[in-house]
Amino acid sequence: MILIVGGAGYIGSHINKKLSQQGYETVVFDNLSFGHTDFVKWGIFHRGDLSDIDNIREVFKKYPIDAVMHFAAFTYVGESVKDPQKYYLNNLRNTLNLLQVMLEEEVKYFVFSSTCATYGNPEEIPITESHPQNPINPYGKAKLMVEQVLADYSQAYNLNYVSLRYFNAAGADPDVEIGELHEPETHLIPLILDAATDRRGNIQIFGTDYPTPDGTCIRDYIHVMDLADAHIKALEYLQSGGESEVFNLGNGQGFSVREVIETARKVTGRKIEVEEVDRRPGDPPVLVGSSDKAREILDWNPQYHDLSLIIETAWKWHQKRF
Ligand SMILES: NC(=O)c1ccc[n+]([C@@H]2O[C@H](COP(=O)([O-])OP(=O)(O)OC[C@H]3O[C@@H](n4cnc5c(N)ncnc54)[C@H](O)[C@@H]3O)[C@@H](O)[C@H]2O)c1
Repeated sequence: MILIVGGAGYIGSHINKKLSQQGYETVVFDNLSFGHTDFVKWGIFHRGDLSDIDNIREVFKKYPIDAVMHFAAFTYVGESVKDPQKYYLNNLRNTLNLLQVMLEEEVKYFVFSSTCATYGNPEEIPITESHPQNPINPYGKAKLMVEQVLADYSQAYNLNYVSLRYFNAAGADPDVEIGELHEPETHLIPLILDAATDRRGNIQIFGTDYPTPDGTCIRDYIHVMDLADAHIKALEYLQSGGESEVFNLGNGQGFSVREVIETARKVTGRKIEVEEVDRRPGDPPVLVGSSDKAREILDWNPQYHDLSLIIETAWKWHQKRF
């Protein structure tokens, strides 16, 4: 069985669906701090909190777990600057709890949700896995620390892991059963779709004077179903004897904030009001990753290159949910 920690959240629930469709048995472990019970439509749901190691022991005793995928974390970069302890406790210490129980139970396959935020300000684009890692906020630092812990644990113990450094996850299940739902929402595409409806008056563009073709920031959007594929490939890679590894997961192409808004106008057929405001501190002008390594080693072949397709799935979900 595959344990999906944080599987009631946005990305974990999509991986749960895909794993179940491919015949894997799954157990979702989540404390519902940010997750949704109605996102756990597949496998077994076991409510528990990673801060309580006995909760973790309980799920491992109850089910025959062969591998763990770890999505649980707090994810607000700005909040991590204001309240770093919250992030180091949940994203680092609680991950150590999980790893401790995995070692006790001799479960040796671990797939970890890392992030492009571990790179900090890019020195070159596209960002490859060998780019220096100098995160600029506690969110990115805690994720990097987990990566470093994993490297040491896999040397010392019988543990093999894959760390997946996602760029911006986007889009939703094409069958519209689940989708992106963060409360509060800070991600660009759902906010733009809110502005396409009466959920929001307009969308703010933070900075229009960046050194990019249209002056707005460029980001790499990777569809959540492509992320789901990569997780299954990473699991199969480990199960077939693959060494511990790290991989970027991105689309390989960047889209500017203005391009995303323009595409959302076309997809939704709605007028989307824009408000241009000052830059936010800590936003690099361009963040685009190279995922060649995952394509080569995992044989990963992302399907959603087209921004319209990504936004279409997000829009269908948004209309259904709201
Ligand atoms: N969304 C993105 O674009 C993105 C990009 C890079 C990395 N990531 C990483 O991917 C992972 C999933 O992100 P998401 O957008 O699905 O977030 P999410 O908030 O939707 O999901 C996280 C889940 O973890 C659960 N959780 C948190 N702390 C827990 C704890 N102590 N015990 C048990 N459950 C707990 C929450 O209830 C939630 O269901 C996170 O680790 C995030 O850092 C996300």
